[in-house]
Amino acid sequence: TSASVSDELTAAIRTIPDYPRKGILFRDITTLLGNAKAFRQAVDALVQPWAGSKIDQIVGIEARGFILGGAVAHQLSAGFVPIRKAGKLPYETVSASYSLEYGLDEIEIHKDAIQPGQKVILVDDLIATGGTAEAAINLLRSVGADIVAACFIIDLPDLGGRKKIEALGVPVRTLVEFE
Ligand code: PRP
Ligand code: ADE
Repeated sequence: TSASVSDELTAAIRTIPDYPRKGILFRDITTLLGNAKAFRQAVDALVQPWAGSKIDQIVGIEARGFILGGAVAHQLSAGFVPIRKAGKLPYETVSASYSLEYGLDEIEIHKDAIQPGQKVILVDDLIATGGTAEAAINLLRSVGADIVAACFIIDLPDLGGRKKIEALGVPVRTLVEFE
């Protein structure tokens, strides 16, 4: 009997204790990305609910959201829009600060990256506290995006991010959970 897709994805993710800070169990997706079957399964499973529907833009969050977001955009024949850490985008930006599991950060989007009313899906590798995704949603709403969903390979449900994002009215799709 074959393992389920989420069992295979779980097995493809490596855990590094005490990175980047003591007490954090870092869920490392580089092992999943380097596994051809697991990478394809993850991308296919993430977008499966929107296969064949019209999505204008995939928005990926730096850095790990870029890798997945590019693959997802190609799969859905959508454009790709980066949300980057502050100071990296060359044109005029909108920015938002947020706290995360192990620090404080600021992200930005080009102010003209989304046409008002465009249907977008937000993509990242992992949701923990949801601070990053909440900041991204605030940016996307400020530029007029219609946010169809937020998708992540990994949910850390104990940190409450999914509930935070669903409370903002954005459906959340995740593939595997870790404590
Ligand atoms: C990680 C992860 C998410 C975020 C999730 O990125 O890729 O973007 O943390 O945490 P949250 O739900 O508590 O906000 P990180 O900020 O470590 O940046 P990186 O991808 O550049 O390593
Ligand atoms: N981002 C926030 N928390 C994380 C974790 N535990 N592993 C990997 N990325 C993260």
